[in-house]
Amino acid sequence: MPEIPIPDAANAVEVQNPYAGATAGPKRVRTRHFQNAKQQGISITGLTSYDMMTAQIFDQAGIDFLLVGDSAGNNVFGYETTLPVTVDELIPLTRAVARAVTRALVVADMPFGSYETGPSEALRTAVRFMKEAQAHAVKLEGGVRSRKQISRIVSAGIPVMAHIGFTPQSEHGLGGHMIQGRGAGADQLITDALAVQDAGAFAVVLEMVPSAVAAEVTKRLEIPTIGVGAGPDVDGQLMVWTDFAGMTEGRVPRFVRQYANMRSVLSDAVRAFKDDVDTGAYPGPEHSYE
Ligand code: KIV
Repeated sequence: MPEIPIPDAANAVEVQNPYAGATAGPKRVRTRHFQNAKQQGISITGLTSYDMMTAQIFDQAGIDFLLVGDSAGNNVFGYETTLPVTVDELIPLTRAVARAVTRALVVADMPFGSYETGPSEALRTAVRFMKEAQAHAVKLEGGVRSRKQISRIVSAGIPVMAHIGFTPQSEHGLGGHMIQGRGAGADQLITDALAVQDAGAFAVVLEMVPSAVAAEVTKRLEIPTIGVGAGPDVDGQLMVWTDFAGMTEGRVPRFVRQYANMRSVLSDAVRAFKDDVDTGAYPGPEHSYE
């Protein structure tokens, strides 16, 4: 799988951090590598991750960025929507992911209620994710309505990934899980995309928008677009890991391709373990101490 290019130490613009130990080199994905990838036509890949184990696996496989999404509300905490999840709940998950990776850029999702009242609140939340969780960037939802928040966070030196189209934190306002940017909505989507770019976002997630509109936004923007149900003509693809790996119970959105059926693998393993314990087949002598 091609990875977005990070120059080797000899050709890097970034010098080795003298405080980071002898082996530390400029090998991390940085926001400028996103920009380079767009210019070179190399696709960017992202997955959500909420824990150390998956973060290690995805990082070692060459996934370029890991999003500690507020989808943890559904996939870790079992809420029906992402709305109840809090900063205090996401910080430990983000810290676990950030500690596990050596290459991927770790993006912390700012949950509902942690940035809407204005730029100062938004900056305070972003600082918590950078300081207490060692995230490398933050993500927040909204186009025009969030531009002041984005601009304030970016001016403090914190990279921001924007998120427009279907924004799950507004699902009640949007009237459910609805495709955004159809018909007259296409102009609004383009306006939102330009607003977040002008505010300083380094990339923008386009969720559940028609492919042709996503292609147009991608053409119009200098920053990379990351699609979640936005078709093939974007600069990168992001998936929720529990969906792509077949952990999610029941229906998954149309845009998800399931690359494994981890739910049935795990379920079979658990049943086998239970049977073995019930029948006395486990533990065997090889699992027991003298
Ligand atoms: O929280 C999340 O997983 C997300 C993606 C769906 C974009 O925001």
